[in-house]
Amino acid sequence: MTDSDHVLVSTADGVMTLQLNRLDKKNALTVAMYQTLADNLFAADDDSAVRVVVIRGGDDCFCSGNDVMDFMQNPPAGEDSSVGQFLRALATTKKPLVAIVDGLAIGIGTTMLLHCDLVYLGEKARLKLPFVNLGLCPEAASSYLLPRLVGPAKAAELLLLGEEFGAHEAVNLGIANAAFQSETLLADAMVMIQKLVAQPPEAIRVTKELMRGPDRAAIAAVMQAEFEQFMGRLMSPEAAEAFQAFAEKRAPDFSKFD
Ligand code: COA
Repeated sequence: MTDSDHVLVSTADGVMTLQLNRLDKKNALTVAMYQTLADNLFAADDDSAVRVVVIRGGDDCFCSGNDVMDFMQNPPAGEDSSVGQFLRALATTKKPLVAIVDGLAIGIGTTMLLHCDLVYLGEKARLKLPFVNLGLCPEAASSYLLPRLVGPAKAAELLLLGEEFGAHEAVNLGIANAAFQSETLLADAMVMIQKLVAQPPEAIRVTKELMRGPDRAAIAAVMQAEFEQFMGRLMSPEAAEAFQAFAEKRAPDFSKFD
């Protein structure tokens, strides 16, 4: 399988689907995958054949976050990096963005959902924000969006402890619209997506802009601040210990840090 097979892109009946397809690595996102996602999100904006963009993964795994090894070898170099472009595309795309998520959704696998207009989860969905656990800090403007969405106390719990939560909690928190049986997730989500496709596209774009526009400058500024911190964190001894522990398949030991 080549890098280009790791994101399957198709457009049919008004729907562009971006399907993460690196299941042997639990759909961990490499630099190349970020670039493919960014390029297609930007292209969708200028393609009148695309009414809705859908991001999905496999039946049992949406995305296990940044590829830990790839990130260490190719640390993102600022806003114009592939990751930076993907985050900008997520935050600015004019087309309605729908996520269909079952199984693991870790790190960016969860934070990207905060930029989606509709999110449908399967019952097996397991969301997690383990940035601190990895010696890192939040990205994708999640340090701004999450407290506003779920309240500061819950956001602190999710971001500081980095514990897993399930589909129903995600729906109750307002991170997702609905949780469906895993077996029917795709079909149930497609019913909603078809409704979206049938809506008047300009009215959708205007409504999305009215909802998202006022926060756009703040989101860009937070993404920039997060980026700067994230770069520093990636080079930190805490992250080195966390990543080394991941590679050695053991629990990290942060007891020596102050
Ligand atoms: N980056 C790089 N590789 C990853 C990965 C990631 N984020 N997540 C999974 N993989 C790889 C594993 O290293 C393993 O590779 P190998 O078969 O060559 O050893 C393969 O995917 C399967 O993962 P494995 O850990 O064996 O599966 P699991 O079902 O036991 O656990 C996870 C799955 C996702 C819970 C676990 O792999 C994990 O915690 N990954 C890290 C997730 C993370 O911290 N992401 C946030 C990054 S900011």
